[in-house]
Amino acid sequence: TPLDKIRNFSIIAHIDHGKSTLADRLIQRTGGLSDREMSAQVLDNMEIEKERGITIKAQTVRLDYKASDGETYTLNLMDTPGHVDFAYEVSRSLAACEGALLVVDAAQGVEAQTLANVYQSIEHDHEIVPVINKIDLPAAEPDKVKAEIEDIIGLPADDAVLASAKSGIGIDDILESIVKRIPAPKGDAAAPLKAMLVDSWYDPYLGVVILVRVIDGVLKKGQQIKFMQAGTQHLVDRVGCFRPKIEQLGELGPGEVGFITAQIKEVSQTAVGDTITDAKKPAAEALPGFKEVQPVVFCGLFPVDANDFEKLRDSLYKLRLNDASFSFEMETSAALGFGFRCGFLGLLHLEIIQERLTREYDLDLITTAPSVVYHINLAHNQGVQELHNPADMPDAMKIASVEEPWIEATIYVPDEHLGSILKLCQDRRGIQKNLTYVSGRAQITYELPLNEVVFDFYDRLKSISRGYASFDYHQIGYREGDLVKMNVLVNNEPVDALSMIVHRSQAESRGRHMCERLKDLIPRHMFKVPIQAAIGGKVIARETIAALRKDVTAKCYGGDATRKRKLLEKQKEGKKRMREYGSVQIPQEAFIAALRMG
Ligand code: GTP
Repeated sequence: TPLDKIRNFSIIAHIDHGKSTLADRLIQRTGGLSDREMSAQVLDNMEIEKERGITIKAQTVRLDYKASDGETYTLNLMDTPGHVDFAYEVSRSLAACEGALLVVDAAQGVEAQTLANVYQSIEHDHEIVPVINKIDLPAAEPDKVKAEIEDIIGLPADDAVLASAKSGIGIDDILESIVKRIPAPKGDAAAPLKAMLVDSWYDPYLGVVILVRVIDGVLKKGQQIKFMQAGTQHLVDRVGCFRPKIEQLGELGPGEVGFITAQIKEVSQTAVGDTITDAKKPAAEALPGFKEVQPVVFCGLFPVDANDFEKLRDSLYKLRLNDASFSFEMETSAALGFGFRCGFLGLLHLEIIQERLTREYDLDLITTAPSVVYHINLAHNQGVQELHNPADMPDAMKIASVEEPWIEATIYVPDEHLGSILKLCQDRRGIQKNLTYVSGRAQITYELPLNEVVFDFYDRLKSISRGYASFDYHQIGYREGDLVKMNVLVNNEPVDALSMIVHRSQAESRGRHMCERLKDLIPRHMFKVPIQAAIGGKVIARETIAALRKDVTAKCYGGDATRKRKLLEKQKEGKKRMREYGSVQIPQEAFIAALRMG
């Protein structure tokens, strides 16, 4: 396809503003699929994505559109993930486009997530076409939303397209705007091959499928290619595009988006952002901006039934086939047995993997408290230790200082909930950086320790604001903090799965909270069960579960005093034995419930 007939664009939208519905409409309008095939939303193709209504993996579709100028254009729609956990994937998809549709719900207006993605898009020098969607809704206020786009984002919104993806209004206008306003890609077909690896996934029939955007040169079937970052070589055995059904092509030229396969077994061999070049005639330098993705949140996953360990391992291997961004390694816990320490890009990523293990692989799991990666500066210049698991925290004596990751969060919230959101941020050790008002809503910028966000910040934010607050964040580096390891002891035994790293100022309230919860969750035993939270040797919170008292003297009718005393003594002995030999039974639900902070 000649360069001037190509348009590559993505759709930026806040969750639920109608991105998928619009994408489906565009596919339908350009004839990619019949009405019957459209019955299911096409771009959200994983079951969980569909159920949760969120896009996880980027997909792409090639559309042929005959424009009003009589020419036929090739439009490549790159779908982007809609969540902060997948920010890097968003960034790579955006780098493969020249423009974006900014979809804003006519009744909801601009949200924090939208902002973050728009700014990324602007950074990529994109031409942005605002689309005000859902104008069919009675609550739609397109003029107010236009003003928001101008005031908050700073984009002209005069020629925003008014649309309803649901009822098909404005679809032609959108397609025309793509052709007229989004620039054609540039590139040189004669130069050495340079293509960006935008995404990859495992397909049971095709093996690893790689989504590419060719910058310069030509990518052909039968070509020996080289991944410049990974340093590996492969033979291309298929080249094609999605319409959204697979169509095989002979080659992809500059400006084109499509897929290749090259007999690659695992997605972990294909790093998003890598540059693909010709092995025999390589490009002089790789594309800029490559970044290795690192898990930022870790937790332990243990099978409820110890016999499921092998099954859990196999399932994790299978999931990793398709998602190189999560990691796992074996872990043992005195309380929970054999399991895995797993790393994720964020909490949502964690939840998705956990949910897939439960649902698709039918596993009952216990998840330990999520933890961020701490940097421990060891005493006596012994270097820095990366801590993924609170259980591995060295003795206080061996630690010079502890650093934790911080984020900058942008929160968008209607006025009436502002007070409680500020309090939430303050309670989470937040540092307020900025507060502005735009059309009845506040935009707040806070610096927060990531550790305070991974527990339940997002849930709290949503519940406090009755769903109206939106939230986005990026990491801003490590800072020293007064962080300590808090152990939880049940019947004087530390329960490793419940230990966590907390800020000293919060240790007591967290500890008390945990003890209170466990007290309700652990059933009574024949003996007293103390529950303690401790830092080092110092107990900071304590609860006691009273013993079950079998009323053994009841039968004696108050009569024989000696017999009564004997019975009581016997019972006492029994208690002692139990405490000595018997262990406390902590039900699995107690772990799950206790770890759900809030
Ligand atoms: P993510 O995939 O999570 O980013 O969500 P999305 O932006 O793709 O939203 P989606 O297309 O799934 O739409 C969210 C909801 O809004 C669905 O219930 C749609 O039916 C509805 N919706 C989308 N477009 C319109 C519209 O133009 N009018 C009305 N009334 N509803 C719409």
